[in-house]
Amino acid sequence: MKIISNIQDLRDQLRGQNRAAFVPTMGNLHEGHLSLMRLAKQHGDPVIASIFVNRLQFGPNEDFDKYPRTFEADVEKLEKEGVYVLFAPTEKDLYPEPQEYRVEPPHDLGAILEGEFRPGFFQGVCTVVLKLLSCVQPKVAVFGKKDYQQLMIIRQMCHQFAIPVDIIPAETIRAEDGLALSSRNGYLSTEERAEAVQLIQLLKQVQEKILGGNISPEEILKIEREALNQLTSRGWKPDYISIRKRKDLLSATDSELQSNEKLVVLAAAKLGKTRLIDNLEI
Ligand code: PAJ
Repeated sequence: MKIISNIQDLRDQLRGQNRAAFVPTMGNLHEGHLSLMRLAKQHGDPVIASIFVNRLQFGPNEDFDKYPRTFEADVEKLEKEGVYVLFAPTEKDLYPEPQEYRVEPPHDLGAILEGEFRPGFFQGVCTVVLKLLSCVQPKVAVFGKKDYQQLMIIRQMCHQFAIPVDIIPAETIRAEDGLALSSRNGYLSTEERAEAVQLIQLLKQVQEKILGGNISPEEILKIEREALNQLTSRGWKPDYISIRKRKDLLSATDSELQSNEKLVVLAAAKLGKTRLIDNLEI
């Protein structure tokens, strides 16, 4: 595997490749990330990965400095997956001058859910992903459904800018007890790790209630409120638990619910100092 940090070197290395499959990450790789590499391999060749902890998408009180950086272990894992090039720019490489041009996603998709609780987050994500896509110019790029809203926003961005890349969604990889794998799980204490499984358990309960039968928007609100209370009573600090339409992440109207609109339940909550997110398609 070639490890490249400079944009020009990357372009030289990838010249003539027109079937490349790209997987951007922030490193501290786990099985979830590696499943993306395997999916990428099914959709293109060669596989290009990137590792870059993107300051632009972290809020002033978020964990940029303490975000886990495990470069050597990551390299070993990517080698084993047969990744051809790892693009690992420094901040100077990717942002040699202040990144003044930014991509602002539309508010109806970018300022709800994660965007409401992490102002500027999706602007930072879109800006770096656009820049990475412009450096790598892949035929396909793979993103996890674990970050459901991020996947949708990136797909929509590529569509509206006519970027010639197919965005491939990847299923969420979970630990045996159901907790979605995440680099932030490493922040959890032993007790918190045991408690963390409650998040997906709760999403499953919500799913069952909704599948239980004919449901109205009022009942949806009630289910959301109960789920929020349940987490709070266990000592969590939930940001949101929301049942939304899969296609646009807005709430479903009565008639949409009657016509079996496809739904997803999304949640974000803090357990101690660690913020966890997860979702489940219904
Ligand atoms: P990061 O959190 O490192 O995630 C990189 C990719 O791995 C994302 O597409 C994410 O959805 C996916 N992923 C994370 N956990 C997963 C799991 N348990 N199962 C399947 N896929 C999983 O997301 C980012 O980095 C950044 O925002 C980035 C897109 C790289 C832009 O900086």
